[in-house]
Parts: sequence; C-alpha cells; structure tokens
Amino acid sequence: MKKDVIIALDFPTLEDTLDFLDKFDDEKLFVKVGMELYLQNGPVVLEKIKELGHKVFLDLKLHDIPNTVYGATKGLAKFKVDILTVHGAGGYEMLAAAKKGMVEGGSPNTNVIAITQLTSTSEEAMKEEQLVAASLEESVINYAKLAKKAGLDGVVSSVWEARIIRENCGEDFLKVTPGIRLETDEVGDQKRVATPTVAASEGSTHIVVGRSITKAKNPREVYNIIKEQFTK
Ligand code: C5P
Repeated sequence: MKKDVIIALDFPTLEDTLDFLDKFDDEKLFVKVGMELYLQNGPVVLEKIKELGHKVFLDLKLHDIPNTVYGATKGLAKFKVDILTVHGAGGYEMLAAAKKGMVEGGSPNTNVIAITQLTSTSEEAMKEEQLVAASLEESVINYAKLAKKAGLDGVVSSVWEARIIRENCGEDFLKVTPGIRLETDEVGDQKRVATPTVAASEGSTHIVVGRSITKAKNPREVYNIIKEQFTK
C-alpha cells in the first residue's frame, strides 16, 4: 500500500492556509482540513484546496445520532474528499449510517474512517474520565473492529496501536496515525507520540503531521525529512 504523509492545516483563515500552501506550489500534497479551518471558513476551503490539486482529509470527527450523521455525510459527498472522520464512540449504527450517506450521496470512494481514542488521551485519563475498564489498546481495537464491521475503511489511532489493528483488521484497513514528532520536537498536548520511522515500522498507512511542519522555520525541509523517514 502507498504510504502518505498528511499535513494538518490547523490555521484560522483561508488566507493563512493559502500562504502556507504557496511554499509547495510545485508539489501535490495530502492535507488535513480540521475543525479550526473548516468551521470558520466553510466549504470554500475544500474547493480551493481541490483546485490546487491536493488530496483532502476532512477531519470533522462527526458524532451525533445516525440520522443526523447520515444527512451530513450525504451532503458532504459532493466535495469528494479522500478521507472523512467520524467518532467510533457514536456506535455501530452511526458508523454504518456515515458510510451509507457517503455512498448514497455519490462518493463511494471517500474513505470514511473512525476515531478510536484521541492521541491526546492517556490510558489514565481514559479510565478516569470515560470509566473504561479495558486497557487503552483494547479500547482502540474494539473501535477498530466495530468500524470494520460497520463497513468503514479504517481508523485513526496512535502509532502504538497500528500493528495490532493490522493483525485484527487486515493490511488494507487504513491506519491513520497523528501524534507524530521528530526526536527534536516539542510534544505539546499530545500523549501517545512516535517518530515517522517508528510509524513506518509499526504499519501506519498514513501519518498526520501538524505543528512539526506548519510551525517550522522551513516547512518544506521538515516535510521532506518526515516523508523520507516514513516512506523509505
Ligand atoms: O500539530 P499536531 O501534529 O499534533 O497535529 C495533529 C493533528 O491530528 C491535529 O490536527 C489533530 O486534530 C489531529 N488528530 C489527533 N489525534 C486524533 C485525531 C486527529 O491529533 N486521534
């Protein structure tokens, strides 16, 4: 499977986003549009990025009753994004409704994937705040299997669960892993982090990198280092 580095465009405005993308004007990227950018600027962001020829991961982490999520994905289908996220915690029916909406909206090739446990969640916080008695790994695997059963195309997890997801859900099931840091980077709010090299050896199919690239003095140089480490 082709492995991809996805750059998280966590910017407040379309202008900031386009300024950043200007640095890559001779290259086609895979970028992530998350709630910060999308909720403040709307669908025009997707249209502009698609116009530039980049692939889009729309990280809206949808989580609502099945009927509402169905309506949302059916409407979002027209943007033909490459990946869309929904929350595994929404349950089997909601996950199946998300995929159904995307297919019936006319975009069967959009990979709908489920968030398992956020990479900013530690096992301790999960146990205390969500009252989950299982280990974090067990919780992630549970969501991955549920997502697969509901007809989804993959999950988001930390690098540290990618291997066991592959064992349980197969090679083709997407393992999209944020929480990526180079050895020299600050960890920030993330808890379960790993380097691109480790992500490659653990079986991530896509890594999501935000601040390590967007806040770098030379984003292009850092992107190339990360890509080289992940795809070599
Ligand atoms: O800046 P950083 O590399 O930490 O950004 C990671 C990106 O991946 C953020 O946009 C965040 O919303 C996203 N993400 C995450 N953990 C998840 C799902 C998405 O960090 N489980």
